[in-house]
Amino acid sequence: MTTATTEKIQTIAPHGGTLVNREVKGSEREEKLAKAEGLASLTISAWSVSDLELIGIGGFSPLTGFMGQADYERVVKEMRLADGTIWSIPITLPVTQKQADQFEIGQEIALKGEDGVIYGALQLEEKYTYDKEAEAQNVYGTTEDAHPGVKKVYEKGEVHLAGPITLLNRPDHGQFTDFYKDPSETRQMFVDLGWKTVVGFQTRNPVHRAHEYIQKSALEIVDGLLLNPLVGETKSDDISAEIRMESYQVILKHYYPADRSRLVIYPAAMRYAGPREAILHALVRKNYGCTHFIVGRDHAGVGDYYGTYDAQEIFNNFTQEEVGITILKFEHSFFCKKCGNMGTAKTCPHGKEEHVHLSGTKVREMLRNGEKPPKEFSRPEVAEVLIRGMQETN
Ligand code: ADX
Repeated sequence: MTTATTEKIQTIAPHGGTLVNREVKGSEREEKLAKAEGLASLTISAWSVSDLELIGIGGFSPLTGFMGQADYERVVKEMRLADGTIWSIPITLPVTQKQADQFEIGQEIALKGEDGVIYGALQLEEKYTYDKEAEAQNVYGTTEDAHPGVKKVYEKGEVHLAGPITLLNRPDHGQFTDFYKDPSETRQMFVDLGWKTVVGFQTRNPVHRAHEYIQKSALEIVDGLLLNPLVGETKSDDISAEIRMESYQVILKHYYPADRSRLVIYPAAMRYAGPREAILHALVRKNYGCTHFIVGRDHAGVGDYYGTYDAQEIFNNFTQEEVGITILKFEHSFFCKKCGNMGTAKTCPHGKEEHVHLSGTKVREMLRNGEKPPKEFSRPEVAEVLIRGMQETN
């Protein structure tokens, strides 16, 4: 790629206009780390470490720290930060009242992971209590603790610590390291590849034929696909990130054009907040440099908490200009035996009896029993990886 060509590529603006970078490097980092050793410290969960990382590397731009009360309350009620910028999910640092009492406003706190590593520092600007039921109802649409996201809200400490953060160590992404890139790196990668338009795809599942269909439908109109699976915390019955990552590599190798697809991990925790999370997922992918984002059927949903297309309709509350990334909305897709190909109600005239339908629970049960789902549902190479993976973990 010549400089002349790369200069022509205009990358998409990050959310809020500037790609945040709260990471310190080199000698400044050495100094800050040495100082952090002497600071009062707080041990934070793996979930909070992943939020810290995403703030630090700009994935959560324009956030520069854990949310203060004004941002938090407006996000919960109106899906906007205090300054009016769209933001749909609170990004907070919850602690118990006892922990909160140990720190004074103005103090700098070293943030340690459960492994004892200092990942960053928080400049404490605020401590505030909050209404968990209001958060559950507004963000998740229910106060039932059977909802995995709501359950997490109820388990959190009752006080939020807030203020700007500094990222001192990125978490180790272990076997996924080769697939790790921060938003500035993916942006550069798209420029290097000559991709002017890129569709981001969020997933917490193995790629099945319906995913493949909507990704490839999108690929017909954009230059490249960023397959961006979430690899942070998920609920226990979801297929593990390790097995999924292997399945993504296999399907890309056999069925995707190598020069038009890339696999990069999204190191966040899954909230299962359906429509609200679809907005977060889209804004984050904009920060990673995607120009388009896929929202299909029941995006980020769980159980029956959300309507099939709620996660698409929620975008109607905002202008395209405010969202900034183009949302590609896809209907429920399936293989139709009569058509002999994939389609949706928009393209297939046949009845349900012709469509191959399998629930996630049914598929997991088949895989655990060593049984391959039909090839109309899952590519055989993918099914093999999943069967092996699920049998090894049983
Ligand atoms: S999610 O929780 O990460 O959204 P999943 O990995 O199942 O779950 O879905 C990834 C994306 O594919 C989401 O945008 C979702 O709406 C979409 N999707 C999943 N299955 C289908 C389907 N059969 N038809 C259309 N879109 C789908």
